[in-house]
Amino acid sequence: MPVTSLDESLLTDDHHREITVCLDDVKSIISADGVTRAALDKVKARLLKLSERTDLFSFDRFPVRGEHDGEHSTIYQLAEDNDHSFALFAVSELAGNMSPPHDHTTWAVITGIEGEELNKFYERLDDGSTAGHAQVQETTQSTVSAGTGVALMPDDIHSIHCVTDRPTLNFHLYGRSIAHLPERKMFNLKDGTYKVFPAQPNIVLA
Ligand SMILES: [Fe+2]
Repeated sequence: MPVTSLDESLLTDDHHREITVCLDDVKSIISADGVTRAALDKVKARLLKLSERTDLFSFDRFPVRGEHDGEHSTIYQLAEDNDHSFALFAVSELAGNMSPPHDHTTWAVITGIEGEELNKFYERLDDGSTAGHAQVQETTQSTVSAGTGVALMPDDIHSIHCVTDRPTLNFHLYGRSIAHLPERKMFNLKDGTYKVFPAQPNIVLA
């Protein structure tokens, strides 16, 4: 899994403190409530508070790297426990970035900091009895921007689309790092198929 280290960390003492306090609160929520939609709504509310710290988290500080080489997004790893749980990323995006419908096999919460990211949600209609095949249809949409977020249970399916010209930065918080989830599925709606994710995208250690 490709990981890029920077010569100099983007994170100050203030970043580390605010991230640690936020993730301690998130761990308390999950520890007390377990992984439920109600618990993830609480996690989302807590992450939205961190998202308000635009003095610490902005597209300018976490830009898309390699933009001139055609890159549309960069995933910055902000924190992760030693066992790869509670992994927090800042994801910067430019117009045109998209991820096809996929699951996570762990819980996930996305909150907006700046810009806009369209999230489409899907339901799976088949019973999963035929490997490689899945009947999936779109159900709802939600735009993640400053002050808003979405939460997904491990089996929930979404796709993301950066459709604005504004630079976009979001937090993505996962129960387990996306670099250590080998069974995620990516769905092809048109063909009615899915495949297990290939190698992970590049992750930058902030
Ligand atoms: Fe996702």
